[in-house]
Amino acid sequence: MSKLAPAGAAVMLTGGAGYIGAQTARALEMAGWRPVIFDNLSFGRREMVRWGEFVQGDVRDVDAVREALKRYEVVAVLHLAGLKSVGLSVARPDLYYDHNVAGTGSLLSAMRDCCVNRLVLSSSAAVYGVSAGGAADGPFDEDAPKSPSSPYGHTKLATEWMISAHCQAFGASAIALRFFNAAGADADGLTGDIRRDNTHLIPRLIDAALGQGEPITLFGDDYDTPDGSCIRDYIHIGDLARAHVAALSAPAIPGAFEALNVGTGVGHSVFDVIDVAERVLGRRPDFTIGPRRPGDPPRLVADASRIRGALGWAPKESTLDMIVETEFNWRRSEMFRRLALPPR
Ligand code: UFG
Repeated sequence: MSKLAPAGAAVMLTGGAGYIGAQTARALEMAGWRPVIFDNLSFGRREMVRWGEFVQGDVRDVDAVREALKRYEVVAVLHLAGLKSVGLSVARPDLYYDHNVAGTGSLLSAMRDCCVNRLVLSSSAAVYGVSAGGAADGPFDEDAPKSPSSPYGHTKLATEWMISAHCQAFGASAIALRFFNAAGADADGLTGDIRRDNTHLIPRLIDAALGQGEPITLFGDDYDTPDGSCIRDYIHIGDLARAHVAALSAPAIPGAFEALNVGTGVGHSVFDVIDVAERVLGRRPDFTIGPRRPGDPPRLVADASRIRGALGWAPKESTLDMIVETEFNWRRSEMFRRLALPPR
């Protein structure tokens, strides 16, 4: 069993110029690591790279990954690169398998060539699918059934399996962090999501309230939940960033792979989120009730006890108020206006 120590050691973040990557780079640097951002800038932005070195490259380009691992003497990789829209994955599964699965294969191959044995994967609650979050179910742990309801979820599960097999075969060690609903922006206003056409609930509510988007549709109020709307476990990106740092610092057992839920264990309905948005924004966002969105599980709430035991991690910033407030401040900031990607 070995333990990596920061002391300026280089850690590569694939996708490090994106929403969660940029926040994680900040947390890494604060913890004493040297972030090396490896990003093809298809969704990330150069301006989001403020902590560490930057290499423009694509994880599917094995030579480019190998070159960066060697040049910076990288000791571990945080793998955040990948496509993450559930809806687009249904329309273009080919892109999802290429970027998420083939991209991870290429990364693992380069890591093996360069004797880098430590990996943390950004995975998703999407690996569970509808069956884990049944209407009567409470929080569920990592052993819950896996039946992803989208190609996006399939690619995340396939990636976990690929990494697990890699660890067993080649003596590497890895942790997959299964994010629940990533939300919010940096508490100091330095990073955040830059998509204008973000389809997630909280940015949509805020855009609607700011007059920057369409009024929102609440997708279904006839679920078997206390108020009829879906329940989710919202986790602030600052807490996700700290989970990456904690995973990196955990003792590594050669051949070991572990998947950990990253959530709060507390569920909030869509109506709860609307109430908090009203309080924080000072006005009730306009919304209409529409039909259910296909593929939405009624309830997705993490049992996050395993990550507490394994990494000593617990959420600190993930109250709904904090999430809505930081996202609100970010989406009306000058930096968001300057960096925001147009709808595509
Ligand atoms: N919602 C609305 N109206 C909207 C947008 C969302 O009512 O305009 C509702 C959804 O139906 C859902 C809740 O708000 O009940 C949260 O929806 P998001 O789109 O914000 O997030 P999801 O729960 O769909 O997505 C999350 C993760 C994905 C993961 C997926 C698995 O962000 O990475 O769960 O189900 F794949």
